[in-house]
Amino acid sequence: MTAALVEMRDVVKHYRSNGGRVCALNGVDLDIEAGTILGVLGPNGAGKTTTVRILTTLLRPDSGSVRVAGHDALAAPGLVRKRIGVSGQYAAVDENLTGFENLRMVGRLYGLRKKEASERARELLEDFALSDAADRRCGGYSGGMRRRLDLAGALIGRPELVVLDEPTTGLDPIGRADMWSVVRRLVADGTTVLLTTQYLEEADQLADRIVVVARGEVIARGTAAELKASVGADKLCVTVQQAEAVSRAARILESLSLGTPDIDDRDITVPVADSTRSLAEAVSELVRAGVDVEDAALHRTTLDDVFMSITGAIPEPLDTTVDERTAMLQ
Ligand SMILES: Nc1ncnc2c1ncn2[C@@H]1O[C@H](COP(=O)(O)OP(=O)(O)OP(=O)(O)O)[C@@H](O)[C@H]1O
Ligand SMILES: [Mg+2]
Repeated sequence: MTAALVEMRDVVKHYRSNGGRVCALNGVDLDIEAGTILGVLGPNGAGKTTTVRILTTLLRPDSGSVRVAGHDALAAPGLVRKRIGVSGQYAAVDENLTGFENLRMVGRLYGLRKKEASERARELLEDFALSDAADRRCGGYSGGMRRRLDLAGALIGRPELVVLDEPTTGLDPIGRADMWSVVRRLVADGTTVLLTTQYLEEADQLADRIVVVARGEVIARGTAAELKASVGADKLCVTVQQAEAVSRAARILESLSLGTPDIDDRDITVPVADSTRSLAEAVSELVRAGVDVEDAALHRTTLDDVFMSITGAIPEPLDTTVDERTAMLQ
């Protein structure tokens, strides 16, 4: 069995704001097994960055405990910090330095010798496809290049645990795909990763386990498959051409499905286990029975459905936030 590299227990954090107090985390528990990716999924203001800052010892919780590789992060932050590489929500690069100089500086901060820091910087610039821009000042880098450089900085000390706060927010689809492959490569090399995201698809693609946070609380946890299963099976939706054929078609579909058909006019919806096979089977059975099928489609359960079923709403579109962030990166 793999041991938990990270254990957060009952973590509570309030911020002071305009003379009042904002509850950012209200008793968060999470575990990350060594060598796995945990996705912390939540909308704006859910508490993702606060969780990251507490885990990486940049912020102290009001109460609760945090252990990383057996060390108490509150009592021995220095020991914990050495094991963690962190890449923040807003890429932190010094505009006046080149990419190479930025990384070498971070390497020195991590305690590498000058020669080692330079070698590691070149290696990472290569890994992150930044070699060509290595000797240009970062002031001229694009948002995506800054994110990559910031992540490279997180890896310079070869940390056991890499913490990425919204690593792909503000990136274009190519930048996002690149970032995904970097994260997958890290885990293939044995690194443990916590990543926060507002993208349901991203958590589904990358994370071994997911915790869903909203308003400072974990509202669901499990694998993507478990979360989807808790919401319900995939659904098969068939529209028949003739109203007279509905009940016959519904009987046929029920025999192939996991449950009772839901009928709305000429539309019949049934829950299915193996969706792709069910679609093919259903259509061929209906045709064999002489039912004219107008339309047949699968509705696969997505993490949006998970959100919808837990909170009653899908997180707000993120356009404004993305624009703000892009503006900050320019
Ligand atoms: N420095 C601060 N002072 C006051 N309130 C804060 C501060 N930082 C965060 N908060 C509040 O705490 C809550 C959690 O914020 P946090 O930044 O952790 O959320 P998040 O999930 O990272 O959101 P986002 O997706 O927008 O980055 C929010 O209500 C936020 O307004
Ligand atoms: Mg945040």
